[in-house]
Amino acid sequence: MLDISTTRVTIDWLTGRLSGNAITSKEKRLGQLAGLFRHQEAFARMDPDQLVYTVQYWMPIDEGTPGGLFWGNTTIEPGRVGDEYFMTAGHCHAALNRAEFYAAVKGEGVLLLMNESGNTRAEKMHPGSLSYIPGGFAHRVVNTGQTPLTFVACWPSDAGHDYTTVASRGFGVRIRSIDDLPQVIQEVACGP
Ligand SMILES: [Fe+2]
Repeated sequence: MLDISTTRVTIDWLTGRLSGNAITSKEKRLGQLAGLFRHQEAFARMDPDQLVYTVQYWMPIDEGTPGGLFWGNTTIEPGRVGDEYFMTAGHCHAALNRAEFYAAVKGEGVLLLMNESGNTRAEKMHPGSLSYIPGGFAHRVVNTGQTPLTFVACWPSDAGHDYTTVASRGFGVRIRSIDDLPQVIQEVACGP
């Protein structure tokens, strides 16, 4: 008879959090996100130790291995820099045609998706929302709520991450609080 083994990793579906000794965790604090937000004076007045988002992920195989999958979660704290909500840095996949799923667990936010031509669309994230990020689209998540926004993600093990394209090019739009409501505001591209 075969033994029934226990999994190396567990997920708490109420919080999206992962447990297990194979999990990696990372934090992004405001001081690590210089240049991300439009309101530089407001940014300079804020505490660089302010936590903006945390990431947990499980890579059961080596990064770059074709055909595998990774799993993770991100929690974005509520907050703003000036009138712009806290958000992730955003990225494309280094293997540009690799797709990804994002599913929100708690909180409220917006997923920004930008194609290679620089056209951007915005999709609501709320508990239970499931977003498909097609290959070729840069992606960024913005917390537009008053509470932490947590979402889980699943992506190919050979996708990789390219942060420099978004950092140099921007996202085409910003999510700003106008009259206390989140609005998608077009901006002039800041790079090629
Ligand atoms: Fe991704």
